[in-house]
Amino acid sequence: MNPLLEQLKDIVGSKGWTSDTNTLEPHVTEWRGYFTGRTPLMVMPANTDEVSRVIAACAEAGVGVVPQGGNTGMCAGAIPDESGTQILLSMARMNRIRNVDADNFSIEVEAGCVLQTIQEAALDAGRYFPLSLGAEGSCQIGGNIATNAGGLNVIRYGTARALVLGLEVVLADGTVLNSLRSLRKDTAGYDLKQLFVGSEGTLGVITAAALRLFPGPGDLGTALVAVPSSGTSVSLLGKLKACFPDQVQTFELVSDYVFGLVDRHVPDTSLPFDSGYPWYVLLEVATGKDPESLEAVLMEAIEEGLVLDAVIAKNSTEISNLWRLRHSISEAERQAGKALKHDISVPVSRMQEFLQRGDDLLKNLRPDATLVAFGHVGDGNLHYNVSLPHDLDPEEYARAGKRITGAIYDLVAELGGSFSAEHGVGQLKRSYLAEYRSGPEYDLMRTLKKTLDPANILNPGKVI
Ligand code: FAD
Ligand code: MLT
Ligand code: ZN
Repeated sequence: MNPLLEQLKDIVGSKGWTSDTNTLEPHVTEWRGYFTGRTPLMVMPANTDEVSRVIAACAEAGVGVVPQGGNTGMCAGAIPDESGTQILLSMARMNRIRNVDADNFSIEVEAGCVLQTIQEAALDAGRYFPLSLGAEGSCQIGGNIATNAGGLNVIRYGTARALVLGLEVVLADGTVLNSLRSLRKDTAGYDLKQLFVGSEGTLGVITAAALRLFPGPGDLGTALVAVPSSGTSVSLLGKLKACFPDQVQTFELVSDYVFGLVDRHVPDTSLPFDSGYPWYVLLEVATGKDPESLEAVLMEAIEEGLVLDAVIAKNSTEISNLWRLRHSISEAERQAGKALKHDISVPVSRMQEFLQRGDDLLKNLRPDATLVAFGHVGDGNLHYNVSLPHDLDPEEYARAGKRITGAIYDLVAELGGSFSAEHGVGQLKRSYLAEYRSGPEYDLMRTLKKTLDPANILNPGKVI
């Protein structure tokens, strides 16, 4: 091991590595603190050539490498295991915007660029990069692509996959695969870049990306509305989509319980309503030249019983106050203590049924469980989390957790959905991948992994 560590230090130079335990601590602990790992060395290469040499050296020595972006992932995919043998590969120093091509509506960036930096670079060039999530100030585009991140604007612009035009990737033997083309059309053979989107560092290390840019979204109307039930939100979504074709930018369902957690745990947040309602939707619609149109549609929705109350933000402060409520949810949930996270998706047409049957299922299985539900209902993705009494003994907690999670995932599968909508698999959901993607799909995933990484160097123990 030692000769390898010295070789890696040589490759990345004195600014490019650390083995200091305190510095490493946040890098070996996942965001919620449920998993920790150990590593003898974190390398921080400055360019693609260094990444390539690091991977080649690890492959030669048969030592695993764990790529890490902002370490904001929800499935413990970016931290090493407990063996203390895996090398951590931080992409943080590869954070250059290489080129903005405003005429081609594209941008080329290194994988370690923080998402927010890319959004800002696009804006500076009069363009718009629509990927947006609560962690955008610290997650990196390489991590976003490696997890096929979703977030808040998927309903209008798609997930990270839809925004990738080209990729540069270092393969498991150190070969650099250059598919960094900024093209909308390219049918020359298999679309190799797509293999790496959502592969969570198990098939290659993404070192750079060419991304799709858009014209600005236009004037957005932002509103927080109260709805009588979670199911009603789906009817409201249908109405908005009909009234504003392709203009619904965000549609986020949040339960009253979840906003209660935000109120309790995050300072300077408050709901803009006098009385409490059971469910809320934070929505954004591109109203274009007709800013009044949102109010008119919401008034109609009130008359139809789809909406109980509504607040439309009047200025940028009110907009950011509403968004602060939404962006504070993960932190509030983390502070509230352990919860079972279920990042599920179903076809929007089955969402109402899921919500109803999910409710019944929880009540039957564990009347003492609390539903902690929020998420991107506009694109069929809900964070259907469940918290159990914190004083349950650990064995009982584990048993109950397994039953609840299994029942929810079974329901999701029955409705044609996925147990992992946008957070990926990591180490947290590996067994569920084997269970719910068994058969030819799972076999082909294993074949791909074995073909691209025969010695299992890249992010061992994750996904598959
Ligand atoms: P990391 O956590 O560092 O890594 C994630 C995975 O990608 C790991 O398997 C890692 O090995 C791999 N990886 C990282 N970089 C590379 C690379 N360059 N090449 C190959 N593999 C790599 N996610 C959503 O989808 N939607 C949301 O709305 C959302 N909101 C969030 C809000 C908060 C407050 C937080 C903390 C997280 C949220 N997330 C959300 C989860 C997380 O931000 C995303 O999964 C994000 O895409 C991870 O990016 P990262 O740079 O932090 O990746
Ligand atoms: C979100 O939608 O806020 C995220 O996916 C993060 C989370 O689930 O906590
Ligand atoms: Zn989410």
